[in-house]
Amino acid sequence: MNNKIIIINGPNLNLLGEREQSQYGSTTFEELKEICLDKSKELGLIADFSQSNIEGEIVGLIQDSRKNFDGIIINAAAFTHTSVAIRDALSIFKKPIIELHISNIYKREEFRQKSLISDVVTGGIFGLGADGYILAIISMQKLLQNEN
Ligand code: DQA
Repeated sequence: MNNKIIIINGPNLNLLGEREQSQYGSTTFEELKEICLDKSKELGLIADFSQSNIEGEIVGLIQDSRKNFDGIIINAAAFTHTSVAIRDALSIFKKPIIELHISNIYKREEFRQKSLISDVVTGGIFGLGADGYILAIISMQKLLQNEN
């Protein structure tokens, strides 16, 4: 079965619902987790939803995903703009990857307008709020289905 996915969230996303609601909305991290797990289940996917504030832990999650998961959805948060290590780990993962951002990073400060991972992922979603996670799960399910 090609149906195991991991949704990886980077630094400060654990504070969703509390941090900068004008950028990230009012859905809390726990609510988002429930929404994602429900949607995944509905689509026949087995999903893991994780978050870390630590770059090396995210690199470890991506490395371990090579064995444990068929696809990665990643909101690398601030590390999107800084982490060569996360980029390199993603490029070793030879299965579908969706990059996700809640806000439109291309409409924000200049330092956010550069993603170090966009050119090593399958595709991306940005600026659509927490709904972006649902759209990413739907797209991932299609990508995995097409591989079968
Ligand atoms: C973010 C955008 C990043 O620039 C920021 O550092 C985040 C969240 C987003 O989801 O819009 O923490 O990835």
